[in-house]
Amino acid sequence: MRQLRSITICGMLLLLALGSTCARAETGADAWLRYAPLEKQAAQKYSRLPASVVVLGDSPVLESAKAELIRGIRGMLGKTLRDDKTLPSESAIVLGTISALQSAAPEISGSSGLHEDGFLLAAKQVHGFECVIVTATNDRGVLYGVFALLSKIARNEKVSALHETQQPYAPIRWTDEWDNLDGSIERGYAGLSIFFENGSVRADLTRAGEYARLLASIGINGCAINSVNANPRVLEDYFLPQLARVADVFRPWGVQLAISVDVSSPKVIGGLDTFDPADARVAEWWNKKVDEIYRLIPDFAGVVVKADSEGRLGPATYGRTPADAANVIARALAPHHGIVFYRAFVYNHHLDWRDPKNDRAKAAYDIFHPLDGKFDDNVIIQIKHGPIDFQVREPASPLFTGLEKTNEVIELQVTQEYTGQQRHLCFLPPMWKEVLDFDMHAGEHPTPVKDIVAGKTFHRPTGGFVAVMNVGMDANWLGHPLAMANLYGYGRLAWNPNLASKNIVREWTQLSFGNDPVVVQTISNMLLTSWPTYESYTGPLGAGTLTDILGSHYGPGVESSERNGWGQWHRANHDGIGMDRTAATGTGYVDQYRAPVAKSYESLATTPDELLLFFHHVPYTYVLHSGKTVIQHIYDSHYAGAEAAANLIQQWNSLKGRVDGERYAEVLKRLEYQAGHAIVWRDAVCNWFLRVSGIPDQRGRVGHYPGRIEAEGMQLQGYVPFDVIPSEDASGGKAVECAPPAQKCSAAFRFDGAAGKYEMDVEYFDQNNGKSKFRVLVGDRVVDEWAADDRLPSKKPNADSSTRRRITSLALRPGDSIRIEGIPNGEERASLDYIEIQLSPE
Ligand code: GCU
Repeated sequence: MRQLRSITICGMLLLLALGSTCARAETGADAWLRYAPLEKQAAQKYSRLPASVVVLGDSPVLESAKAELIRGIRGMLGKTLRDDKTLPSESAIVLGTISALQSAAPEISGSSGLHEDGFLLAAKQVHGFECVIVTATNDRGVLYGVFALLSKIARNEKVSALHETQQPYAPIRWTDEWDNLDGSIERGYAGLSIFFENGSVRADLTRAGEYARLLASIGINGCAINSVNANPRVLEDYFLPQLARVADVFRPWGVQLAISVDVSSPKVIGGLDTFDPADARVAEWWNKKVDEIYRLIPDFAGVVVKADSEGRLGPATYGRTPADAANVIARALAPHHGIVFYRAFVYNHHLDWRDPKNDRAKAAYDIFHPLDGKFDDNVIIQIKHGPIDFQVREPASPLFTGLEKTNEVIELQVTQEYTGQQRHLCFLPPMWKEVLDFDMHAGEHPTPVKDIVAGKTFHRPTGGFVAVMNVGMDANWLGHPLAMANLYGYGRLAWNPNLASKNIVREWTQLSFGNDPVVVQTISNMLLTSWPTYESYTGPLGAGTLTDILGSHYGPGVESSERNGWGQWHRANHDGIGMDRTAATGTGYVDQYRAPVAKSYESLATTPDELLLFFHHVPYTYVLHSGKTVIQHIYDSHYAGAEAAANLIQQWNSLKGRVDGERYAEVLKRLEYQAGHAIVWRDAVCNWFLRVSGIPDQRGRVGHYPGRIEAEGMQLQGYVPFDVIPSEDASGGKAVECAPPAQKCSAAFRFDGAAGKYEMDVEYFDQNNGKSKFRVLVGDRVVDEWAADDRLPSKKPNADSSTRRRITSLALRPGDSIRIEGIPNGEERASLDYIEIQLSPE
């Protein structure tokens, strides 16, 4: 088993003696809860912190709060707080609910005005002693207060003279995990499930408990643990006690368990001949099933439902509505205070693409708006932030203002399905904030999405935030160490959507990497520019992520969106690009927005450039507000994006020695990969548009690659050329593969450049169905060798599996013979695309 805990290389004693910042080797498992020892000077700030902790009350959550406080203080300040049972005869950190505090120390007065889960941190006199109070209306709020106090210390903030109240913006702050019972994770990019394996709940739920602790530390209070494409087995009687075990490890952290359910369960596992929500037997089945769940899990939170969507069965089978389906389950849950999250992600994926009036973006509003007011009070409609599906940029969903008499939550996505799958850096809070802050114009005053989903605008009793997380068994939870900023950022925004992205980044970096200002500044900069960078080489101007939408959702695949029923169309053809969604000439989608919003999107003049192609179809020569034509913008933004991706490496390199070696190396590896893959994206998309539009790049870059030597043009032994599909996925549309019966192949060429030091990139295909080996020789000298063993999402040589190996500081002379040898393995044929040789920068 991998080592999950951080390993302190410099022992604490040594550290204290030296007062140094000796970098610790870290796996990332501790995330932002590292409690790394503070530097001596910083630690002095807290020398007057009380030496004991008193907990008023007794519950698993309060026990966690106390243990966390002791753990944090010990880690950061090297002190072990004394655990006192009663109010002290000395100064102490006092943890307890307001009512417990007031009965123990009546001199602490006044109503706090706190809501559920909110907390107060205050310096107060208790029985004449200076104490730090962490209090709340409920135990969970106390736990949140402890995490907030520890976060302050980790970030070297002042904690003397404290008086700070924090309230959550909304009651619902949840995550959805898309884990399957077999242990795989739908759209998960960090290993296997922490909850399930081989069809059952894992025997060892240690990681699930650690995850709940992370969630609690950012204020998340509910978690649905299985995929929305739910396996009905999750509700089988024999499975429920297994779920109860997960609830048990969540409970001490105030995280309530939820599950996704399949609405056909009464028939599929219940033995009925129907799952019609209007059938009394179906209602009875849900009642009994839910009662049984609560018998085992008294604090069960509720269920998530995906129905009539992407092949899932639903109420449409019986001509019933989503309200009928939601309410029958909601009525079973209501006596136990459980909730149904009914997802608005309902659409027909067999749309006729030939009909220019068809538009998947309209589906959610068309289906749910007419049902407004028909849902029970414990139903919440879960709405993806945009009308399509987590693309790199989408406008806010019009359904947010389509429901006034129905509870809503916004659904965000932390797992980077369409945004680089945690192999590319893409910090998402700035994107989420654009939607959360977007004024939907539903009243006289601003009505941003964050207020609507929190229930403030339409005075709904509940609402809030959900994010699809998909953490896995990888030690660092999400694969890319810097991707954890998205998980943290989601929690912080769900708690307070008014926080600025730059403050979230700063907090996260300080907690995850320490307080060195150079580190904080550099990582902040990298993260804050990463979404625009990713957007610029994968889907500028609102066309959607131009990815392979029929497969992995990862590499470029411009045509995959078109001529199929899935409706992620961008309508790029010889003349122009973009979906006309206007009321005047298009699908009429814009009319789903309130008038001022509709008006601004209806007009080309007022539609922002970054959403232009979402709303309008324009010729490639259309001139943007920026003054560029659409086609030149496509070219320029892909080149600028690839350059910005390469620049991330330089920024990260400047932190060598300032962050621990383990995470340094892991991030570097991913950034190097990203820089190469950004070029794959750049070339695929630009070449596709050059071919289709026939309009050349004004700057002459597209189609011209100095220093590039195509593998199919080399002297081949064993290797044979083949056409890559789609053709833009490989340079020149072709690559070479070491085809059977060859066991070892080579591709060679003569170097004709001047003598000097060079960088050589070998672009090859690393599929997930084999582990080929490569060697590069200059003359007889082996200059590099490696195995193609990355986890890229393709069984074929294409833009998902295209990757590069960079050989640096390579001394070359004119006439040198360069040979690449490939040894295939499994179905992976050691395929090669090209070599690129550039003078070394130094
Ligand atoms: C996306 C994703 C699916 C998922 C679906 C959903 O389409 O690719 O894997 O099931 O969203 O949100 O239900």
